[in-house]
Amino acid sequence: METVTVKASRSYQVEIEGGALPTLGARLTSLLPRAKQVMLVSDSTVAALYGEIAETSLCGAGLQVHRFVFPSGEASKTPATLCALWCALAEASLSRTDAIVALGGGVVGDLSGFAAATYLRGIACYQVPTTLLAMVDSSVGGKTAVDLPAGKNLCGAFSQPVGVLCDPQVLKTLPSRVYADGCAEVIKYGYIGDPTLLKMLEQPFAEAPEAVIARCVRSKRDVVEADEHDNGARQLLNLGHTGAHAIERLSNFSISHGEAVAIGMLLAARGAVVKGLCAPDVPAHVEAMLQRYHLPTECPFDADAMAEAALSDKKRRGGEITLVLPRKLGESVLVPTPVEELAAFFAAGGAKA
Ligand code: NAD
Ligand code: GLY
Repeated sequence: METVTVKASRSYQVEIEGGALPTLGARLTSLLPRAKQVMLVSDSTVAALYGEIAETSLCGAGLQVHRFVFPSGEASKTPATLCALWCALAEASLSRTDAIVALGGGVVGDLSGFAAATYLRGIACYQVPTTLLAMVDSSVGGKTAVDLPAGKNLCGAFSQPVGVLCDPQVLKTLPSRVYADGCAEVIKYGYIGDPTLLKMLEQPFAEAPEAVIARCVRSKRDVVEADEHDNGARQLLNLGHTGAHAIERLSNFSISHGEAVAIGMLLAARGAVVKGLCAPDVPAHVEAMLQRYHLPTECPFDADAMAEAALSDKKRRGGEITLVLPRKLGESVLVPTPVEELAAFFAAGGAKA
């Protein structure tokens, strides 16, 4: 088992162990001995695959288990689903000493985390991520949210979980496109600040993912501990995301988040070389890495449209946008950039001029 301790406004452990899901109940009760009831939250796909194993384990540890299941997909990450979850928590009379168990990908984790942060002004949330993206990114660090019609993640709270349990065996049932999405986020950690991870990723890791997942979680832990509320270093996690948000929006979300992050990382690397900020060997390295993990590399949109779409993003601050740019293999930096330069930056990165 790999264990990573996160010391943020709450300290907790991320435990990573193949086959750990059936031990969920015992782990939760040792963490929260006063808990009597839990709300097991999952989406319809995950509930069908793993709901029974999780419920049996929680019941076996003496907990009364209620279930809340919603249709899988980003379209469910809404205030309406959140409100239905709040109501289910109230109907089940969950108290301050009880907990939500979030069994699923980032959608389940973000929604459950926000419900836990707000119901009774805050109850415990235990994250059990079932996608690669959720294991290496969304389950750790305390960002919780729902989407609004005006944009993704516009309403949420910083609220750290009480613990995270990753069982990489569940990744075997992931559709290949969802797995590749997670690989884009794994690769991102390498280019942000982990040259050793870039070396490890030269071999596919799907058969034995624990070490790679743990490495990514440690990287995330480091930025979250340095900047829990996302005012500085945590923005490094947005490598590839300025371009990605534009690509997702322009494609009407037919290009997935991970695919868009992949293209966005390559745009950032090429753009940084043209700006004279990045070693020239980085773009080819990024391109080969993305191809190895079956991720796209071509930007199908033109630079002006990309800039306009990127600038409607909530992360823009004043007349500047903070770009995350690789400087050399395994190191990235934050570069505040005037918004007028963004279209030229995307064009330099390979978007159509
Ligand atoms: P997701 O939760 O929608 O899961 C993707 C698909 O995989 C869904 O259809 C789901 O039902 C299915 N699935 C999940 N686990 C499975 C399994 N083990 N086997 C088979 N199918 C499975 O998407 P995601 O990529 O996990 O997360 C994306 C969300 O995460 C977005 O809403 C994004 O905003 C959020 N996010 C949050 C943070 C954060 O820091 N909080 C970071 C990154 C992303
Ligand atoms: N995934 C971005 C963050 O946690 O800050």
